Amino acid sequence: PIRADFVVVANRLPVDLERMEDGTQRWRHSPGGLVTALEPFLRARRGAWVGWPGIADFEVEPFADDDLQLYPVPLSAEEFAEYYEGFSNATLWPLYHDVVVAPEFHRGWWNSYRRVNRRFAEAAAEVSAEGATVWVQDYQLQLVPAMLRELRPDLRIGFFLHIPFPPVELFMQLPWRTEIVRGLLGADLVGFHRPGGAQNFLWLARRLAGFEPSRGQVGVRSRPGVVQVGDRTVRVGAFPISIASAEMDKLARTKEIQKRAKEIRAEMGNPSRIMLGVDRLDYTKGIDVRLRAMHELLDEGQIQADDVKLIQIATPSRERIEHYKQMREDIERAVGRINGEFGRVGHPPVHYQHHSVDKKELVAFYAAADAMIVTPVRDGMNLVCKEYVACRPDLGGALVLSEFAGAAAELTSAFLVNPHNLDGVKDAMLAALNIDEAEGRRRMRALRRQVLTHDVDRWARSFLEALGTPLAD
Ligand code: UDP
Ligand code: G6P
Repeated sequence: PIRADFVVVANRLPVDLERMEDGTQRWRHSPGGLVTALEPFLRARRGAWVGWPGIADFEVEPFADDDLQLYPVPLSAEEFAEYYEGFSNATLWPLYHDVVVAPEFHRGWWNSYRRVNRRFAEAAAEVSAEGATVWVQDYQLQLVPAMLRELRPDLRIGFFLHIPFPPVELFMQLPWRTEIVRGLLGADLVGFHRPGGAQNFLWLARRLAGFEPSRGQVGVRSRPGVVQVGDRTVRVGAFPISIASAEMDKLARTKEIQKRAKEIRAEMGNPSRIMLGVDRLDYTKGIDVRLRAMHELLDEGQIQADDVKLIQIATPSRERIEHYKQMREDIERAVGRINGEFGRVGHPPVHYQHHSVDKKELVAFYAAADAMIVTPVRDGMNLVCKEYVACRPDLGGALVLSEFAGAAAELTSAFLVNPHNLDGVKDAMLAALNIDEAEGRRRMRALRRQVLTHDVDRWARSFLEALGTPLAD
């Protein structure tokens, strides 16, 4: 059996088992920012990763992938529906994202969430060496810290939430709010993206669990706190996540990427301006907002269909959940309307793709785009905007970014927009498309300074240092 000193526990493994139509299977890279951020770091550390392999009703033995030990946790089809699609993604996801759509509360889903969290805690307990550091990730596993502590009091346990932690009045709607707060308080360190999330959690720890917080210095940009839970001290702080900036910058400078970026522009008929959106197809991402803005700009003649194109990569996500199905229909209808009204045969204004692209191709898209449009109505951090910035060593391109993405606190030289204010989004799009070169370079230089000095390695280091297990260089 694996016995690791450093263990990441996340709902998903960094690779996903995909079932092909002919019945065969293959592993592919898992979607989402959590994996982007943690995988390179854990590989370098030769750690173990406990997670679900991506297919229900399927058992996979533990295996090694280069230096990474993967420890699969199975889910039944019923658990997939109740724990993953249900409680995680139809209760917690919308609740934590400002109730963009109405969260559903079902006792059956909650029971399944508890049961599956216990299974993850047991798996983590089994693979962890004596005194190991275990880093539990994200909203799907909020009960794991306390469950794991009960099984293995010798471990050092960290928890990080990759999505926003909601305002207290929203969190208080949750019928199981006290259990969740107590679950998180099982960790030695609870980390959020933003100081506001940490503050909300501290308030709830007092209100729901009766633990009085005191001030302490935790995290990079916060005055968060410390909670005394019996004889244990739980630290709470903010740690804004990031990307492997230097690596992306380097990749973007290669001849191969530069050539591919030119090809992409040529394949699109060398329009004068290309806008880019890259998102999981999720209702929090505001893909509809940018389509509506573009539609109006075309309609008003402020942009011309032959001059300005939008590439929208919308990677499939949580496809069986009702709100996601509805959203996909709405987005695809909006794309169809723009292309139908303003396109010519062979020259659609919107190039829409509903499947993922690999990293190199994505970097080439970033390098090819004159404006990156990121308009979530709520997002914990948002990594694609940071990736865009890292991929512009030429200081070209402009970023339109929602104020409601965690990244907005750092990327203040972007064109910041309120995605609920459509006129504001349209103005920002026009400003980004028409920016003069000197101003564009000035903004991009400032953005790059932030992204290149605050990379994912720095994030992981500051978290682990606050957890009391600093990394050796
Ligand atoms: N991504 C990818 N291929 C795609 C689309 C996205 O590899 O076709 C990656 C992207 O590079 C980024 C991550 O998926 O690292 C998305 O992270 P983000 O924080 O922006 O959003 P999330 O999906 O986690 O909500
Ligand atoms: C977000 C969440 C991650 C999740 C990812 C992809 O980034 O914070 O926990 O893994 O989306 O979503 P999925 O439901 O496919 O795992």
